[in-house]
Amino acid sequence: MFGIGDKKISTESYKGVRDFYPQDQAVQDYIFGMMSKVARSWGYDEYGASVLEPLSLYKSKTSEEIVKEQIYSFTDRGGREVALRPEMTPTLARMIAGKIQELPSPIRWYSIPNLFRYEKPQRGRLREHWQLNVDLFGVSSSLAEIEIISMAADLMKKFGAKEKDFQIKISSRPLLDDVFKKINIAEDKRQFVYRLIDKKEKMSSGDFRHSLIALIGEKRAEELLENLYYGEGLLSMMTQSQAAKDLNKIIETLRESGISNLVFTPSLTRGFDYYTGTVFEVFDIDKENPRAIFGGGRYDDLVGAFTNQSVPAIGFGMGDVTIHDFLETHKLLPKINSTTDIYICIAPNTEVSGVYKLAEVFRENGINVAVDISGKKLGDQLKSLDKRDIPFVMTIGSEELKSKNFVMRNTETREEKKGNIDEIINFIKNV
Ligand code: HAM
Repeated sequence: MFGIGDKKISTESYKGVRDFYPQDQAVQDYIFGMMSKVARSWGYDEYGASVLEPLSLYKSKTSEEIVKEQIYSFTDRGGREVALRPEMTPTLARMIAGKIQELPSPIRWYSIPNLFRYEKPQRGRLREHWQLNVDLFGVSSSLAEIEIISMAADLMKKFGAKEKDFQIKISSRPLLDDVFKKINIAEDKRQFVYRLIDKKEKMSSGDFRHSLIALIGEKRAEELLENLYYGEGLLSMMTQSQAAKDLNKIIETLRESGISNLVFTPSLTRGFDYYTGTVFEVFDIDKENPRAIFGGGRYDDLVGAFTNQSVPAIGFGMGDVTIHDFLETHKLLPKINSTTDIYICIAPNTEVSGVYKLAEVFRENGINVAVDISGKKLGDQLKSLDKRDIPFVMTIGSEELKSKNFVMRNTETREEKKGNIDEIINFIKNV
């Protein structure tokens, strides 16, 4: 009836996506809960949108790699080209542009969408991931950079990370533009140079050098490599560059505010074509997790692609896969219990409807209760608790239903609490 002939259907999920069994879902909920809590604490409002978008949204406005190699797209029954969103930023810019007249500026929004990219599944990279997106619109001064990067650092701190565990790499597109100008890289070549630099970490240094020479010739390639190599020194060398001054100020202000793990990294460009200013990424110090945990930057022209009004914008995306790996590596994942508070086991010859009535009283008081209706022996009911992570258990028989006196046990410490229903409810509420 089901399956193909006698062959059973595979229990594996589609390649590169995850099933979330309840324990995995509980961890995911913890991560999302913390993301939302921090975003809200900085005054950001949540928004949402569909995973489906017209493919044209991405054709000119995202990264070439994503459109050419990674997008999931199909033609719908009406002949329209549709994409599963590979990132949230184009959707967000479209939504902001659609209501720009009504929205009070500055606009602070966040969302935790699932995104789809056809990547080679590997550590830190899957085909579906969730990403906290935090974006600020309407502020062109560097105060926006300071707020967004401080918030990225705050998120890491609230997840329990120490500054020494991660690094915030920062750079600036206009500063690199000034470097390109200084060494006379033709304007029509610059976008290709950006894309190549973005792939630098994935290539051997020999391959990178050769590709750079093929693009801009040996002399300029050597000069560019030298500039990238200067690291922080580049900032003080570029005395004529306003972008260098701006970035220096951002870095200084953030350091003064106590963020000491900020590193100027000239080779950081970010792969998206829409970035126009400061760009940054957050990395785990542990080499076990080489992929960026966050990436973001300023994109002042993207909203202008949808409307005549120009709207400065800056934000970042923090991936659920990468932050999960980080938390696991640094042993920062908390022990997560089931959301069920009490598990009620039923003694032999007990009226089940009486037990459900009791459970109802708990629920009315905001306590989550599951009743064991397996019909198994009491010992087996209790044994099943070993795998459930439920903090409290009660065994109910006709005796308890009649006397209205109950015994509740903590499943971990085995401590008991005795009392009538109000006393039990009060006890749980104060745990
Ligand atoms: P992104 O660098 O492509 O930026 O992604 C941001 C973060 O999402 C990455 O640092 C990584 O943690 C996670 N991520 C990306 N792709 C995958 C994947 N295939 N599997 C697992 N995790 C992944 C953006 O998407 C920009 N739209 C972010 C942004 C928001 N810029 C401004 N506002």
